[in-house]
Amino acid sequence: MQTTKRSERCIRIGQVGTGVMALAHSIAYSNIPQIFNGGIRIQKKIIADKTNELAKSGAERLGYEKWTNRWEEVVESEEVDVVDICTPNDLHMPIALASAKNGKHIICEKPLALTAQESKSMYDAVKDGHVKHCVAFNYRMTPAVLEAKKIIETGTLGEIFHFRGSYLQDFAIDKQFPLVWRFKSNIAGTGSLGDIGSHIIDYARFLVGEPIAVVANNKTFIKERPIQSANRNQAPKTGTVDVDDAVSILMQFSSGAMGTIEASRFYHGRKNQLSFEISGSKGSVYFDWERRNELQFYSSEVSQGHRGFTKIITGPDNPYGGILWPIPGLGMSYIETTNVLLHQFILGVLENRQTEPNFYDGFKTAVIMDAVLVSDKERKWIEIGSH
Ligand SMILES: NC(=O)c1ccc[n+]([C@@H]2O[C@H](COP(=O)([O-])OP(=O)(O)OC[C@H]3O[C@@H](n4cnc5c(N)ncnc54)[C@H](O)[C@@H]3O)[C@@H](O)[C@H]2O)c1
Repeated sequence: MQTTKRSERCIRIGQVGTGVMALAHSIAYSNIPQIFNGGIRIQKKIIADKTNELAKSGAERLGYEKWTNRWEEVVESEEVDVVDICTPNDLHMPIALASAKNGKHIICEKPLALTAQESKSMYDAVKDGHVKHCVAFNYRMTPAVLEAKKIIETGTLGEIFHFRGSYLQDFAIDKQFPLVWRFKSNIAGTGSLGDIGSHIIDYARFLVGEPIAVVANNKTFIKERPIQSANRNQAPKTGTVDVDDAVSILMQFSSGAMGTIEASRFYHGRKNQLSFEISGSKGSVYFDWERRNELQFYSSEVSQGHRGFTKIITGPDNPYGGILWPIPGLGMSYIETTNVLLHQFILGVLENRQTEPNFYDGFKTAVIMDAVLVSDKERKWIEIGSH
């Protein structure tokens, strides 16, 4: 084991998974000390994947000191302060429970787990273990979204009537797209619902408040997909998709507002359209992640003849809008939202503060997603209890 001299502002990361999100998080760990002027040191200590080959190449590519093919070694390591879970969803719960038991702070990708029950056990474990926790709803950390929140919280939109949110992509329309883990309920839990819908459900809670009831209609358009095989000479086999491809949800909020939510990986032309429109008694806001550096704002109080939405271009005077450049309009990227999320969390760990979004948010989202599944199955409205 390599040892390192620890300063008070040093955090040591143990990463699990070496895929897409491990890359985004690992880039953030490299960037945070440079972007944020807080004297924080981050050490990328150890990374795990399911084989030694994957773990070793992940360590070399992403800059970790050591690698292992056993995630247990990461959560048990005395050299790790924060365990970062970037695996498929079925592994979130076992890794998080073991991490909390070993006193590790935890960052976990969304959806928090396969079900609300699993998510609750994770939330209970971090409370029992007195460790800090983060669920990676990174899209919250977008200046335009945080500006929308400020506009809502200052009462500028008045009483909120409507939340209309959607998260649309189109990669799954291709019938030849293989049966990756995202299409299997035992690994992913749900399909579009958890993969992308969890982000828009999080926006709904973050911006408008808790929903109290949902009714949903879910659909699987393509029920068989090719199984990826390393052997090109083998005849192609197919396997069954047992998760939703698309969901449509009606929502009732405790505030009295109404909501509609769509999540689909079958919307031609929509690549990453995470969008919402919120309308109240005095105005509206509209946001689309494909144009993430803009917020459309409408006020009913403008003078006659100047009706319509105003485009706000985000910059340093919007939340987190100046983390890199003091120039409006240069914009924020996906990677930067992850930088902000992980920086906030690490600061919280160093200062003994619990930040948001955290496992409570992951759990509440999971409760809503469970209700969506029950509603679709039973073809009726489902009340969401308070937890
Ligand atoms: N916040 C976001 O914007 C966002 C975007 C994409 C994915 N995600 C979430 O991130 C998580 C990972 O998704 P991804 O796109 O990076 O997937 P991925 O398939 O690219 O990566 C998953 C990694 O986990 C590894 N893994 C599998 N079994 C393992 C085991 N037993 N031990 C250690 N590692 C193991 C895989 O080999 C792979 O390296 C998922 O929960 C997903 O929902 C979040």
